[in-house]
Amino acid sequence: MIRDRRGASILLVLATAAPVSAADSERGRRVYERCSSCHVLDEKRNVFGPHLKGIIGRRAGSLPDYAYSHAMRAAGEAGLVWEAQALRDFLYSPKEKVPGTKMRFWGLWRSEIDDLMAYLKSLK
Ligand code: HEC
Repeated sequence: MIRDRRGASILLVLATAAPVSAADSERGRRVYERCSSCHVLDEKRNVFGPHLKGIIGRRAGSLPDYAYSHAMRAAGEAGLVWEAQALRDFLYSPKEKVPGTKMRFWGLWRSEIDDLMAYLKSLK
């Protein structure tokens, strides 16, 4: 038991001591490939998910021609806007940020989110 705990803390130290590289939009483009089975980013066309053109700063659930879940529309009506931090929280855990969302996606690691955000911002 004690040995296990030591092992875990050593791992933790290694993980936090690893060099943290800055957010990288090229890596972010590759992260985005995981979204692209359900979303388009470069034109206003909804596929399985709503298009993500201009997503940063857009109100949640606000495209008139996309059939959102009730949960997503209600979140937008209650004031949820996809500012950077809200988007980060959603991508980390869609189900926690918007309980009842129909976006079936497990979530991303924080470092992947940083890269993805750098990519999304580079498109503006
Ligand atoms: C399996 C399909 C799928 C994948 C993969 C997926 N999404 Fe989604 N996404 C959806 C669906 C469906 C919705 C609509 C959710 C709702 O109405 O509750 C959605 C909604 C969203 C919204 C809210 C849009 C709005 O107009 O309010 C954002 C932002 C979003 N997705 C970003 C992403 C990003 C970024 C990725 C990749 C990291 C991703 N999604 C991966 C299906 C997916």
